[in-house]
Amino acid sequence: MKKIIVLTAAALALTSGVVFAADTITLPAKNGNVTFNHKKHQEQLKDCKICHEKGPGKIEGFGKDMAHKTCKGCHADKGAGPTKCSECHKK
Ligand code: HEC
Ligand code: HEC
Ligand code: HEC
Repeated sequence: MKKIIVLTAAALALTSGVVFAADTITLPAKNGNVTFNHKKHQEQLKDCKICHEKGPGKIEGFGKDMAHKTCKGCHADKGAGPTKCSECHKK
């Protein structure tokens, strides 16, 4: 019975086009991985396109340059969120 419910939920998710992401995503970096609270950003910012120009999912070419421009840039603009290296990069 349980299995059927789980499968139905998965099928519904697929057919309705809902896309899931983990609540927190670890973005690996040599100088300390960055723990990114995806869910919190989604809820606060609402607009997926701020980070996902081409739609939800893996971000093509995501890396240092984009992260520092998009992530750090917004934090600096808004005066909220980390802008110091060690506030994002945790060893
Ligand atoms: C502040 C930036 C930001 C916002 C806003 C944002 N995301 Fe993301 N999202 C990311 C990053 C960074 C990743 C990881 C990208 C990668 O690994 O290439 C990601 C990954 C994902 C993934 C793939 C998860 C996986 O495990 O592979 C999905 C699906 C996703 N986001 C959906 C959404 C949806 C839907 C919204 C809007 C409701 C949204 N995102 C808003 C930054 C954001
Ligand atoms: C358009 C604005 C915007 C973008 C883009 C953005 N952030 Fe944030 N971020 C915020 C704000 C606002 C806060 C403060 C939230 C609070 O204090 O409640 C924050 C908080 C954080 C925090 C502190 C812990 C937490 O979850 O509150 C981390 C770490 C963080 N952001 C990482 C990132 C990373 C990594 C990216 C890029 C993948 C990113 N942010 C992109 C606006 C943004
Ligand atoms: C808002 C969060 C944030 C801040 C602040 C920040 N970074 Fe980053 N940094 C990131 C993210 C996210 C990545 C990309 C990680 C990935 O591609 O998985 C990154 C990538 C990097 C990389 C590349 C790592 C690798 O393995 O290729 C270096 C080096 C780096 N940052 C140094 C710094 C330095 C130095 C500072 C301070 C001047 C800094 N960062 C501040 C979030 C941040």
